[in-house]
This record gives sequence, structure tokens and C-alpha cells, in this order.
Amino acid sequence: MQEQIKNINTLEELQELYTSVFGKNGTMTAKLKEMSKMAPDARAKLNKENAALRDAFKIRQSELETAALNQKLKTEYVDVTLDTEPKNRGTIHPLTETLLQVGTILESLGFEMWTGPEIEDDWHNFTALNTPSYHPARDMQDSFFLDNGNVLRTQTSAIQIRAMETHGVPIKMFGVGRTYRKEMDATHSPMFGQIEGLYVDKIDTHITMSDLVATIRVLLERFFERKLEMRIRPSYFPFTEPSIEVDIKWGDKWLEIMGAGMVHPNVLRNCGVNPDEFQGFAFGFGWDRLAMLKFGLNDIRQFYDGDVRWLKNSGFDA
Ligand code: PHE
Repeated sequence: MQEQIKNINTLEELQELYTSVFGKNGTMTAKLKEMSKMAPDARAKLNKENAALRDAFKIRQSELETAALNQKLKTEYVDVTLDTEPKNRGTIHPLTETLLQVGTILESLGFEMWTGPEIEDDWHNFTALNTPSYHPARDMQDSFFLDNGNVLRTQTSAIQIRAMETHGVPIKMFGVGRTYRKEMDATHSPMFGQIEGLYVDKIDTHITMSDLVATIRVLLERFFERKLEMRIRPSYFPFTEPSIEVDIKWGDKWLEIMGAGMVHPNVLRNCGVNPDEFQGFAFGFGWDRLAMLKFGLNDIRQFYDGDVRWLKNSGFDA
């Protein structure tokens, strides 16, 4: 029997033999049933035989299992050192990255992010921003008007109106979104992105022009990760008074980077805020321009083409 067990080469055959010995009708089972009738010597002998057989089965079983495992390891392994097919790993789009960076900086300064509809009504895009229909400033922006009198938002300033209307004051927010104007060249796209900051609080909080300039400086210097030469020029926007334009020195050129100013009393009034009690500042800029400067890209239109070859070669690595 011992020899027979050793010569078995599959686990199935071993199981079969085992059943024929130790199963219900097995040969050893039958012998064991008779044990009580046996003389002590014969009993001891049978016990030994029983134990030896069980051991032999166990040993052969583990030998066969090991062999099966080795066989499996030999045929089913995965070579982790093999080259795989090259996979294209996506990167974050330069505009998204810019938005994330600017958003992080503004949030660290206490501004809360807001969005608003891209199709705006006249009130939020113009009238509430102190730009009534006869106002010449409407011509400053070549707007896309819809037949029903609505307009594709020309500026994220519309979001500050919505924020003040629904949240009230004091408020420290920034609006983010796409804006639309009829213009198209290397530095202008008919669709572009703007970010707008607004901070309004009680008059005795003393939010001043210097807070505005300091906020802009912190924002730009953290974004570009270096000290910047900044120039403040007087300007005009219907919704701020006084209004300024902010330039930064880039190489040997001055670049216009954003518009800003103290929120016009009429704008506060239009949002149900008493300008004798509250004052504040607002600033707005195109994030495309910031992205172009930071990442050294020179054609704004490419941002929106979705051309993967350009994205790959834009030198941008998230
Ligand atoms: N809305 C202005 C623009 O689109 C920018 C701006 C925002 C200016 C807020 C002043 C205050 O040009």
C-alpha cells in the first residue's frame, strides 16, 4: 500500500485511493470496525498500520500539492519587468491649473468662490453695474446679445451683483467663469475666462484703495512666484469710483493685467446696500492672460482648440 501511495501522480487519484481505504466502505474502515474483537497485539498492530497509512497519504498529498503549485508558478507568472504598451497620461489644462492656483490664493486671503450663469440678463451684466442702456460704456464691450434681450455675460462683474443680492453684505467673494465678447486675435478669444474679486464691509472697517492694491500685489506675486514691478494707472469703469488699471513689468514692457476700483455707490444701492454704511473694492481680470504669461504661451486661441498635440508641446507639465 505504501508503495502504491508513493506512485500516485495526481491529487484526484490519491483522493480515490484514500476513499477506498478510509471511506465509509473503505478497507481500513472495515478493519477498524472489527477492532474491539481483536486481541491486544493485533489491535496495536492495526493502530500502527492505520497511523502509518494516514501519514503516507498526508505526505503524498503535500508533495502533489507543492508540485501543482510549482507548475502553476511556472506557467502562470506575470513578468513585471516587461515593458507595457505606452499609455498617454493626461495633464491638467493650463487654464484649469491657473484657475486652481488663483483660487487657492484668493481663498487663503478669505475670498469665497462663486459662479453665475453665462447667459445673463441686462440687469446683472449692465444695469446693476451702473451701466444703464444709454450709457456709452456699453460700447466698451462688444456684446453678444440674444433675441430676448439677454446677453452672453461680458464680464464676471455680473457675479458680484448676484452675490451681493443673495448673500448680502459684508461679503468677500470671487466670481469665476467664462465671458464672451466679439473679438478675436492672438491675444483675444470671443470666449475667455475672468476672475472677479469683491470685498465689501462696514465703512468703519476702512477698506481702502491701498487694501485693494495690496491684495492685487499679493495675488499676482504669489501666482507668479516672484516680486513684481507694478504700476497703477487711473482708469474708468462705470461700476467703480475711483477706477484703476494695474500693469506689471514683463521683460522691458508694461502689460495691462487687470481693472479694479472702489465699488461705485450706485452699484451698492442697486444691490440694496446702503453706501453710507458699507464700502469696498472690486477687481477683475482675464485668467487666460495670466496663464499665457506664467506658462509662456503666446496664442490665446490655442487654449480652447483642444488640440492634444499642442497641449503636449505647450511645455506645460502639471
Ligand atoms: N469688469 C471689468 C472688465 O471686464 C474689470 C473690472 C472688474 C474692473 C472689477 C473694475 C472692477 O474689464
